[in-house]
Amino acid sequence: MKSAEVVNKNQDFDYEAAEGEFARDVLHGLSQTCKSLPCKYIYDDVGTELFSRIMSLPEYYPAGCEAEILETYGAVLAETIRENPVNLVELGAGDGQKTRILIGHLINSGNEFTYVPLDISGAAVRKCAKNLRSSFPDLRVRGMVSDYFDGLKWLASQDCGMNVALFLGSTIGNFSSRARAEFLNNLRGSLNPGDMVLVGFDLVKDAELMIRAYNDSLGVTAQFNKNILARINRELGGDFDLNAFRYFSTWDEVSGGIQSYLISKRPQKVRIEALSETFAFEPWEAIHTESSYKFSLPQIRKLAEDSGFETAGQYLDSGRYFADCLWKAV
Ligand code: TRP
Repeated sequence: MKSAEVVNKNQDFDYEAAEGEFARDVLHGLSQTCKSLPCKYIYDDVGTELFSRIMSLPEYYPAGCEAEILETYGAVLAETIRENPVNLVELGAGDGQKTRILIGHLINSGNEFTYVPLDISGAAVRKCAKNLRSSFPDLRVRGMVSDYFDGLKWLASQDCGMNVALFLGSTIGNFSSRARAEFLNNLRGSLNPGDMVLVGFDLVKDAELMIRAYNDSLGVTAQFNKNILARINRELGGDFDLNAFRYFSTWDEVSGGIQSYLISKRPQKVRIEALSETFAFEPWEAIHTESSYKFSLPQIRKLAEDSGFETAGQYLDSGRYFADCLWKAV
């Protein structure tokens, strides 16, 4: 088996600066009147592993729904993006689990394409490239270690075919509405007209179902959220007592999202060495850890239009819980 090629556009990634950014964001978040921590920091190696476990929980419907969509419409998608040659650019390398279904369909339909896992983490790109190469030995893989937009812009400037960017799962739901608009505008700005994106959106549904997806009976989701405290302990010399916090998440009709929190069960002080700071918690004071916004189909169509895309396809699972939307850059 040939080894996958990895283009590293990120050779001078500054790990010390990244660590500094984590420290700065933690200091900022915990100094607010309403404490919060940015959810992206949940996803270190431990968090990523816990998220893989969430994806196989029966309560976490988005994973199964999206797998069903890609299974059902894989051949239709293959037909729609049958252009020669295509770069299938996956934003955020992940474990390639969902993408595997789509790639299987593209291969069966005889599409010519190169799979490009793109991530800021070299380790993630290499792992993803290796996993997919072992499932599909003849797959052309060209990993890219880069910021999403720099990587896409570089590809767009290479005259190496049409780019189809994948932003699967319900990650788009973790952005605030402002950050979401900015992300989609940047995404559009990094593509050529005619390029496409396939974006996953979790749809608004019965509140009970949504709440259950974020409150699994095994407590994996609680552990996943608490990983941000564990990570502060590991990397910034914090002394968070994980048992003194309770994970709580709820559907918020007003914001249109599941809101997740870690709540202090008692009055306590937490020392974080790297910040030379001590943070006081009142009993039942919350740290906001994540928003998971849910969408309606008209709202999704408007998002496409507002950011310079036209809808080329909209694929839903049989329960209409989740949508993968194919947008074309105009
Ligand atoms: N992107 C996932 C989502 O919003 C992340 C996630 C899964 C998550 N379970 C969670 C975030 C629980 C916060 C709390 O669905």
